[in-house]
Amino acid sequence: MAVYILGIESSCDDTSAAVLRDGILLSNVTASQAVHEAYGGVVPELASRAHQQNIVPVVDAALKRAGIEREQLSAIAFTRGPGLLGSLLVGVSFAKGLAASLGIPMVDVNHLHGHVLAHFIKEPTLQPPLNLPEGRLSGQSLPFGGDGGGQSPEFPFLCLLVSGGNSQIILVKSYKDMEIIGQTIDDAAGEAIDKCSKVMGLGYPGGPIIDKLARQGNPDAFTFSKPNIPGYDYSFSGLKTSFLYNLRDWIKDDPDFIEHHKEDLAASLEKTIVDILMKKLRLAAKDLKIKQVAVAGGVSANTGLRNAFHDHARRYGWKVFIPRFSYTTDNAAMIAIAGYFKFLDKDFCPMSAPAYSRISEK
Ligand code: KG4
Repeated sequence: MAVYILGIESSCDDTSAAVLRDGILLSNVTASQAVHEAYGGVVPELASRAHQQNIVPVVDAALKRAGIEREQLSAIAFTRGPGLLGSLLVGVSFAKGLAASLGIPMVDVNHLHGHVLAHFIKEPTLQPPLNLPEGRLSGQSLPFGGDGGGQSPEFPFLCLLVSGGNSQIILVKSYKDMEIIGQTIDDAAGEAIDKCSKVMGLGYPGGPIIDKLARQGNPDAFTFSKPNIPGYDYSFSGLKTSFLYNLRDWIKDDPDFIEHHKEDLAASLEKTIVDILMKKLRLAAKDLKIKQVAVAGGVSANTGLRNAFHDHARRYGWKVFIPRFSYTTDNAAMIAIAGYFKFLDKDFCPMSAPAYSRISEK
């Protein structure tokens, strides 16, 4: 009998649901929350309310697009943490309610493991055409007659996880055995990009805006400070301060400095961040003698970072794994695949398991 897994993701500001059949993705639907744009960052209370509005239509659309009834589901996988507690509670409570009503097991997923395991998402080679109203929903990225989802890395591999909340180098030994060998001691890479973009008066989130501007700028136009900390750890707060202070000085001489130089500023900022990220990753790959290197998380959508991965593949003989754009940011497909592996191990989660905002609270 086929195994159908429903995945639910609600850890931050995207409400997402996905359905897998025997590990193959049938649907992946995401409702994003535009409400935060006006505030220049995610407002937790507004995020929880939007999740409450979105969760039912999103799950409904994912089941419809997969062409199954909820009674066919074998289990529900959901993000239990880390993330914003109010946001998580919506997905966790919904998953518990649905699992209880259907009498099926639940599988809890660590959001960060989900990002890493996004490299194991398998898309069907042939997808029936979708004929559903779009509305506010997006994210059905499965190509008609797609490529089968590409290759997955073999264990052990290194994964650079870079998002708005995390910058980590993870040694991935198996689906469930992951060791964080390096991480940021202050800000995450995405957070630094978003804050610098805010300082420049650009929109939110800054990542895609900086990426677009950087393509037209000179990456060597400006120099910003780089951290000098031991091991595989990262730090981005010094860079953020150096960006802010330099900008203040330059604006004193030319009040329109940002307008005149925004492309060069974006390109130089991006280059500095990519250099910082790749230096530690290179060191880890060399020390551990690992040549399979993956990238995951929202910042892995960045063009400069993707180019650096391809460049390292050429220069150092790495085999690199870069996710499809739709699987870089938060999505339920990655939660469903992580849940599928746990389901095969019968690693279920009790009804009493609470959401957790930090790993240390688990
Ligand atoms: O993984 P993610 O969707 O969730 C959070 O951790 O919240 O990552 C979001 C982060 C944001 O900081 C955003 O600015 C960044 O990913 N991001 C990018 C790009 N697209 C999204 N950063 C650089 N270049 C991009 N193209």
